[in-house]
Amino acid sequence: MLKAIAFDLDGVLTDTAEYHYLAWKELGKKIGIDFDREFNEKLKGISRGESLELILALGDQQKAYTPEEKTEMMVWKNDLYIELIQNITKKDILPGILPLLEALKENNIKMAIASASKNAPMILEKLGIISYFDTIVDPSSIANGKPFPDIFIAASEQLNIPVSQMIGIEDSQAGITSINDSQMFSVGVGVLEQADYLVPSTAELNFDSIIAQFNN
Ligand code: BG6
Ligand code: MG
Repeated sequence: MLKAIAFDLDGVLTDTAEYHYLAWKELGKKIGIDFDREFNEKLKGISRGESLELILALGDQQKAYTPEEKTEMMVWKNDLYIELIQNITKKDILPGILPLLEALKENNIKMAIASASKNAPMILEKLGIISYFDTIVDPSSIANGKPFPDIFIAASEQLNIPVSQMIGIEDSQAGITSINDSQMFSVGVGVLEQADYLVPSTAELNFDSIIAQFNN
């Protein structure tokens, strides 16, 4: 029986994935590394530091900067990202999400956030939905980020609900691998491989179909 759902944040609850892309792209411009949306798919779900390393590797610049300079770049990107998301509100919640959160609450299904983002609590506050969640995994407490399963396992431990009674929802390939390897049932949003149940967009995420697929 389904007891809980662990949600990714960026790209699932709200379209902040787009702002991460825009901010990294601006940083790329500053250091002469251009990339497109296809490359950006690799940055989805992984940490700030790992994203920077992938961008530097793309430009063959991994060794070009000191750890201090890399930290400065991450701060610069995050400052720009925070500026870009300053005005997000309830209207930026993706289609289908609010009705889903409401249905889960009515059916007494617990909810967790399993996001790599250190900005997650602030974003949930801005969206006005933080009170739906019973727990938020702190990504800095996780040894191995997505695609490793640690963050979804931590969500299950924090809720004290076995992974077999949980679903994870993700929009990134790293995230789907993370859910699958945690042994939770995976729901993917977008174009992804190996999700147990895949929907094209959050608008198609509804409580009854999710339960039907989980019980299948
Ligand atoms: C993930 C995003 O949710 O969080 C990544 O998909 C992002 O793109 C990562 O890099 C870390 O986020 P933040 O907000 O801590 O830089
Ligand atoms: Mg995401």
